[in-house]
Amino acid sequence: PITEHPLRPQFHFTPPANWMNDPNGMVYYEGEYHLFYQYHPDSTVWGPMHWGHAVSRDLVYWEHMPIALFPDQNGTIFSGSAVVDWNDTSGFFDGGPGLVAIYTQMEMIAGTDSSKQRQSIAYSKDNGRTWIPYEGNPVLIDERFPDFRDPKVFWHEQSSSWVMVLAAGDRLFLYRSPDLKSWTFASEFGAQEGSHDGVWECPDLFELPVEGENEASRWVMIVSIGDAPTCSEGSRTQYFVGCFDGTTFTNENTPNTVLWLDHGRDNYAGVTWSDAQGNDSERLFIGWMNNWKYANLIPTGEWRGAMTLVRKLSLRKEQQGVRLIQNVVDGYRQLRLQGIERSNELLSAEGIQFAGLSGQLEIEAEIELMMAAEIGLRFKSGDKETVVGFNAALAELFIDRTISGHIDFHDEFACRHSAPLKAKEGRIKLRLWLDRSSIEVFADDGGLVMTDQLFPLDGTDCIELYAIGGKAMLRTMRVYPLRSVYA
Ligand code: FRU
Repeated sequence: PITEHPLRPQFHFTPPANWMNDPNGMVYYEGEYHLFYQYHPDSTVWGPMHWGHAVSRDLVYWEHMPIALFPDQNGTIFSGSAVVDWNDTSGFFDGGPGLVAIYTQMEMIAGTDSSKQRQSIAYSKDNGRTWIPYEGNPVLIDERFPDFRDPKVFWHEQSSSWVMVLAAGDRLFLYRSPDLKSWTFASEFGAQEGSHDGVWECPDLFELPVEGENEASRWVMIVSIGDAPTCSEGSRTQYFVGCFDGTTFTNENTPNTVLWLDHGRDNYAGVTWSDAQGNDSERLFIGWMNNWKYANLIPTGEWRGAMTLVRKLSLRKEQQGVRLIQNVVDGYRQLRLQGIERSNELLSAEGIQFAGLSGQLEIEAEIELMMAAEIGLRFKSGDKETVVGFNAALAELFIDRTISGHIDFHDEFACRHSAPLKAKEGRIKLRLWLDRSSIEVFADDGGLVMTDQLFPLDGTDCIELYAIGGKAMLRTMRVYPLRSVYA
């Protein structure tokens, strides 16, 4: 089967074949999680966009469905969202509930390299299996803005209105609507805030409680920023924390504060599920595990592109302010096979080895730094390796994929990159998920995340724990081999 390719992710979502980018239209309805995605069904590189579709009951096992949205006279189908229209505000559903998708249609302007980007809607009366584009499309046009895309829509309870957040180049526009068909401009956000290293894309806006605090809930605005040739990080995702009154979002941090949702290289265009809140008040996030810098070049097989693991978002009050916390959803635990556990072993430069491993792994490790200058894990594949480590003097967590395997497809893929992290009571606690071509590292109880693609030549066969510049103590380590979702 095509899922046996040595680099094919075994517990991350991939399309069966061909090109995938952003996750789109995620919505929970009648026991099913829907995942749509930017899809080019005819090639393994980006091209005329469709919405691919998959459905899951547990966010782990996905069933592939037929293509949901095809290009039509209004253009190809770019990113967007979907909602449950519970009270039939749209009038599409004879008074009952149903699903409405809101997305950008892109049409090239003949003889130029610019495009028209306009918002359209489609509805489904059969739980997302088939979609009918609305005859009044497009529903939102403003040709002053060449970048005008990626609508994320939600129902704002307090003001009984639909709200749309939309990316327009270097800022976001917010609109309101009673029926998902007619939209009125409400406000703009961001021209002077956060990072502008690239064009703004794929926004999201939602409210979350602050964990364990007698503290008002906050609104979180997620904004992806596109690749710029001058920026070695490529495309990445930032977020803002603040309040929202139904019309205007106000950032509570200083305008020059930049908060990264993920400090790795490969988490882009991520947004959250609509209506999963009814289900255990969860705010669930998934991102495209790739980077526009090299997305079209990664050395995979007949598919190109994977999603991150699904993460539950929450907020925690830190010294500097309220910050986003991410934890992988519990559903992946069903994949755990018999674990291996080690505890209270001294670490030194030679390292401790966990050999004879193969396939995908979940790892939890708690290391007491003692006098070590650096501690870490080496993921070995023949004479190649990827290192996840912590540098004590610099107080930073890093991933080094400079000799991780296939690296030649782009000059900037081979890299070491890091993010600030403080040890707590002299200890570092890490949770890691390793698949055939990716690693996701969670530190600081979900406060720091790094997601990276790796393309080992031969699969990871050994993990080595090490300490350099002084000894450290491995307090506990659990390694769970994970069953493949294709097994
Ligand atoms: C983000 C993005 C979106 C756009 C889509 C096109 O990766 O550029 O802004 O809608 O991809 O595929």
